[in-house]
Amino acid sequence: MEAVIGLLLMLLRVTHGVETSCDGRQNGTQCYGALGGTVVLQLMDSTSDIFRYQWSDKTGAILGGGQNRPLHNWIAKRSVFTPSNGTFRINNLITTDDGEYTLRIFDSSGKQSEKRILQLTIQAPVSSVLLDTECLSQGELRVSCSSEGGDSPQYSWTLNGHTLTDAQLFSGNNETNIITLKQDVSGQLVCSVENHVSRVSKEVNRSTCGFIFINCTLPNGTPISQWVFEATNSLCVEPTTTTTSPTTTEGKETHVSITPIDHPWYIRYLYPICGLRTAVVILIFIGITIYFAWKKKKLEMAEGSAVLPEVEHQENSVVKVEMI
Ligand SMILES: *[C@@H]1O[C@H](CO)[C@@H](O)[C@H](O)[C@H]1NC(C)=O
Ligand SMILES: *[C@@H]1O[C@H](CO)[C@@H](O)[C@H](O)[C@H]1NC(C)=O
Repeated sequence: MEAVIGLLLMLLRVTHGVETSCDGRQNGTQCYGALGGTVVLQLMDSTSDIFRYQWSDKTGAILGGGQNRPLHNWIAKRSVFTPSNGTFRINNLITTDDGEYTLRIFDSSGKQSEKRILQLTIQAPVSSVLLDTECLSQGELRVSCSSEGGDSPQYSWTLNGHTLTDAQLFSGNNETNIITLKQDVSGQLVCSVENHVSRVSKEVNRSTCGFIFINCTLPNGTPISQWVFEATNSLCVEPTTTTTSPTTTEGKETHVSITPIDHPWYIRYLYPICGLRTAVVILIFIGITIYFAWKKKKLEMAEGSAVLPEVEHQENSVVKVEMI
């Protein structure tokens, strides 16, 4: 049942589009409506105390009425005006609805007693957001956020739920659609794109670009403190075990430079190979361990069965088993 209601609500949202509302009782109010959506404008409090009113755009009257006079709505097919609370609901907004509207209120002598301007801006809602990431030569991550459909999109970023700070950024700022994150910045990155009628966001987990920060002293006494590409790094590497040595060898053989500016694809390609080699070595090691364990067990079983018949000779057998 809940699923059915949810589906119905979803369908309603799809067919009716985005709904916005705006209090236009102050002169000069700026309101926004979504293209294809609905806007609910509060034009006045109630029409009951108003002798005569008229709401119009540059082309002419849209709404008119007052005390003892019938209500006229020139766009009644797609709108509803509620005189008791002064709200005007306009559906299926189109680009030509964008513009300036004027409310004129007249007193019983026919004089205009009030005039209010309302600016309605129609914007297409943002329909989708795309995130594209690219590792740069020193382990920085370039992220570009692009959106489809939205008019006047505004970009903003968060990392692990907090607004990105300048300290985390190598280039760009929190409001540009392309940013570059520093090497040591990681976590859940979210790009939000919004305009006045919609907000869509997309997230990506900031992957490391294969760089690590090393801070050590070389045997010759030179201090090293820099970002290096982990897969090819041979500086300050701990004495390696058999499982990690293939990785080191790989890096030395291929002489991949620490700053692979011209060959980022090659570096990316290298990564799975290193991983695969390590995995193979580990698997071989496990295989050998299992084999020897199995062989040992088999030997014990063979000895055990050789001992077994003697168990019947009670006293001696105990001593024998213990000696074995
Ligand atoms: C005005 O009245 C209409 C119709 O009864 C209602 O849907 C709407 O929510 C009301 N708006 C306000 C601001 O009271
Ligand atoms: C590097 O290590 C030294 C000594 O441990 C420390 O004083 C220094 O702050 C470290 N530098 C960085 C950038 O981490």
